[in-house]
Amino acid sequence: MPDPPSAVPLLAWYDRHRRVLPWRVTGPPGSADPYRIWLSEVMLQQTTVATVGPRYDRFLGRFPDVAALAAAPWEEVAAEWAGLGYYARARNLHAAARAVVARGGFPDTEEGLRALPGIGAYTAAAVAAIAFGRPTVPVDGNVERVVARLLAIRDPLPGARRLIGPAAGRFMEQEAARTRPGDFVQALFDLGATICTPRRPACALCPWRDDCRARREGIQDGLPAKSPK
Ligand code: ADE
Repeated sequence: MPDPPSAVPLLAWYDRHRRVLPWRVTGPPGSADPYRIWLSEVMLQQTTVATVGPRYDRFLGRFPDVAALAAAPWEEVAAEWAGLGYYARARNLHAAARAVVARGGFPDTEEGLRALPGIGAYTAAAVAAIAFGRPTVPVDGNVERVVARLLAIRDPLPGARRLIGPAAGRFMEQEAARTRPGDFVQALFDLGATICTPRRPACALCPWRDDCRARREGIQDGLPAKSPK
């Protein structure tokens, strides 16, 4: 597997082009409110950024912190979740809020976060990086696509995840990514959402255009490959 390119151009691009989203705060790494970050990541699991925006603000208006969410009866949480779908998410959210209050606060490690109801590998890594500044890279569909193209990983999904996960994690060997883990991972999300899109990626605008192996080989449109069903 080739080395990942420098994180520096991506961070510089993010500093100019970051999307302004309700859960994004500017502040030193590790200064974000874990409750707000966790809520955004759970909502974003199966719902688009555009839909989540207003619902996120409304949910926070009703349950401004983890203690308020934990203290609420389930029926009120369910009512506030209406229309977002996947009620298991709301159930887990409520159960996790109660677990967090019972233990006296959010765990600040990926492993600790994973022990909470409904928090899988992706959410644990996202909260650890964005809220706690931990050097870890959550791999969602966007990150998968960006990394598969950058490194020209031709193996089809889902098998390619075995290669993509560790390759993505290697960015955190770099000082630039390690000093701004939350920005780095959100820059990957934004690059995947706006430039390195599934169809017709805007390679000419990409901060990694000269580093991308798929682009060099002209195979970016076909990556990541999918196993025939
Ligand atoms: N998708 C999942 N998490 C996200 C985030 N923090 N910002 C933008 N898109 C996302």
